[in-house]
Amino acid sequence: MTLNAKFTAQLEERLDQLRAEGVYKRLNHLDSPQDARVIMEGRGEVLILSSNNYLGLANQREVVNAGKLALDKFGAGTGSVRFICGTFTVHRELEAELARLVGTEASLSYVSAWNANEGLTATIVEQGDFVVSDALNHASIIDSMRLAKAIGKCETAVYKHSDMDDLREKLAGAKDARRRVIWTDGVFSMEGSIARLPEILDIAREHDAIVAVDDSHATGVLGATGRGTPEHFGVVGEVDVITSTLGKALGGAAGGFVAGSTALCDMLTQRSRPQLFSNALPPTVAASALASVRYLQAHPERVIRLRDNANYFRAAITEAGFAPLPGETPIVPIIIGETATAMKMSDMLLEEGVFVTGFGFPVVPQGEARIRCQVSASHSRDDLDEAIAAFKAVGKKVGLIK
Ligand SMILES: Cc1ncc(COP(=O)(O)O)c(C=O)c1O
Repeated sequence: MTLNAKFTAQLEERLDQLRAEGVYKRLNHLDSPQDARVIMEGRGEVLILSSNNYLGLANQREVVNAGKLALDKFGAGTGSVRFICGTFTVHRELEAELARLVGTEASLSYVSAWNANEGLTATIVEQGDFVVSDALNHASIIDSMRLAKAIGKCETAVYKHSDMDDLREKLAGAKDARRRVIWTDGVFSMEGSIARLPEILDIAREHDAIVAVDDSHATGVLGATGRGTPEHFGVVGEVDVITSTLGKALGGAAGGFVAGSTALCDMLTQRSRPQLFSNALPPTVAASALASVRYLQAHPERVIRLRDNANYFRAAITEAGFAPLPGETPIVPIIIGETATAMKMSDMLLEEGVFVTGFGFPVVPQGEARIRCQVSASHSRDDLDEAIAAFKAVGKKVGLIK
């Protein structure tokens, strides 16, 4: 066997640089289901504030059982992409239920929200179109736009985060484009802030634009019954395209979807490349996601509990002397500054039994490294109090609070 030794040496050198910059990511191994607490290999049980398991459905009996039953009924895999022989009845049931949940005519599932987003832009735009994106949109949206632009399908621009004047300006500059598309996250994952959706919709009407919202951190989270950012603002049914994940509040397994008109979903079935050239969502995962949606619809109190927990944690961490970014979502980021300090603090919190992740450049801007706390409906008040005590102890040690 002759491996290219130069290539390996170059990779090792680059990895050493990442270590020196303090941005090297260590993989933590869990040895239990995702819940309020997890068993971390070599460490025993720790409280987790790092998970997107917002509603605590990842280990919900009904959700887990649905996957087991589907394994028996449908087997392990799809053996194909959707349009060949990879579409099972459970995909159709899931897609109908997801459309009902987010308030659209139809939906189409993907193996991840990344794939759903990646394939979207190039499928819905034609040469001469213009796509504009919030500066803090998720990487999958950025890549989707880059791809559409690279193949000559559209021009693109970025507006300052949640700056509606800048959005108007960018759209006005593209008034001769064949069509205009506005892309935004519903909830911005590193800030925990919510898109100004009603204003975006007004601006879209003024400029004859289409609105696409990635609601990955809002589905199951925002709105009285967890229907997402449109429900939060009372504009269900007014967003042209909604994309979201099945890998966060909806059970956390995997998968994503696009929701909108029947024509949109049909066009994605015909033309979206991740849909055409990658195997369908495994039936077990589709069945667990379907059970999650049904559980959410039958248990709106989970959403209320999540909101109560988030409000409680935000108030308590502020009371403890920290200054989290303001907001009303279960994402509570605490800005630390330097990446190395955020990473160190995350390590120290783990020593105190709290698993919470530090994020640095390039995931967030230089100098704005942070500890991102994510609250779940699965946390008890005792869990949250324990986390606050750990934050106080570590915050004092690193001189962040008195
Ligand atoms: C806003 C947003 N969109 C898309 C994704 C990708 O989701 P998935 O894990 O389903 O690919 C994420 C995940 O981090 C996200 O935060």
